[in-house]
Amino acid sequence: MGVLFVIKGNLIFPQVHHTKHNERFMPKRIFVTRPIPDQGLKLLKKKRYEVDIYPKDQAIPHKELLKRLKAKRYDALLSILTDKIDEAVFKAAGDQLNVVANFAVGFNNIDLEAAKRHHVIVTNTPGPEINESVAEHVIALMFALAHRIVETDDYARAGLYKGWGPQLLLGTDITGKTLGIVGMGNIGMQLAHRMHDGFNMKIVYTSLEPNMEAEQKYGAKHMSLTQLLKTADIVSLHVPLLESTHHLIGKKELALMKNTAFLINTSRGPVVDEAALVQALKQKSIGGAGLDVYEFEPRIHPTLKKLKNVITTPHTASATVATRQAMSRRAAENIIAALSNKKPANQIV
Ligand code: GLV
Repeated sequence: MGVLFVIKGNLIFPQVHHTKHNERFMPKRIFVTRPIPDQGLKLLKKKRYEVDIYPKDQAIPHKELLKRLKAKRYDALLSILTDKIDEAVFKAAGDQLNVVANFAVGFNNIDLEAAKRHHVIVTNTPGPEINESVAEHVIALMFALAHRIVETDDYARAGLYKGWGPQLLLGTDITGKTLGIVGMGNIGMQLAHRMHDGFNMKIVYTSLEPNMEAEQKYGAKHMSLTQLLKTADIVSLHVPLLESTHHLIGKKELALMKNTAFLINTSRGPVVDEAALVQALKQKSIGGAGLDVYEFEPRIHPTLKKLKNVITTPHTASATVATRQAMSRRAAENIIAALSNKKPANQIV
């Protein structure tokens, strides 16, 4: 609601004006659920939006989020991937909420059906920066496993290195081996490019549709998951978490893998049945695992932390300064577009 002054002759009449989005009188209000890198926040402030940021550098408790959304009407919510954006959130935010901009590529934390029911736009932050950072992280995990980097670093730091040995801590090579990419999307493509062109790897992949670009540029072979698991020396997961991908890799699938093969997961934890993975690793029915995500995040299965053939990173595959700034800008640009009645570049619903 705002007040407009209408001039009639030489008299001025105040008029109360009711609109949902009163452009002229009410600054748009944005709630950011956690402090994020500043470039996107600067863009929002430049638009003279009122930006409220949850001040603690930790995930906002769901109850607290609901409380804040009820206490003040917001036009946009900038959420992070650990915020559960469900029916209760949309209800608490009320009619004013126009857009939820998730600071992530994944959006399994958002109830898209509820968003549609409440006519709220949902966006994410894909882009070349994040594809490259995640691909690099996958490669770091692959090489760290193959060359036993974490294990050998621990060994050296513990003072166990007493002199060069011809059979000391032998690892494996990656050049020329077969990489299985489960889900040949943007990140899968970046990985295929680097590993095919840089390390002469053979690329095999699964995806809903064959990816002709991957086939032409990187000689990638489309195959069933079963075939891929039997063939690949390294299996890297790049699928979104959906009902159909929950536990995509379980006991049966792990049993198909070579006993020297590595599994890399930088997608979402529940894509892998973690208990089955722990068993496979303990029994050495696979060679090792490089994990950035966990089924019950932030909990990491205690056995995973003990096994030498496992490398664990704390969901940091996209955590570079440049990429997190780019994600901040993208989330802000999506909000600005939605609040200017334009289609955001990364609209999901
Ligand atoms: C990170 O996991 C993301 O989805 O951006």
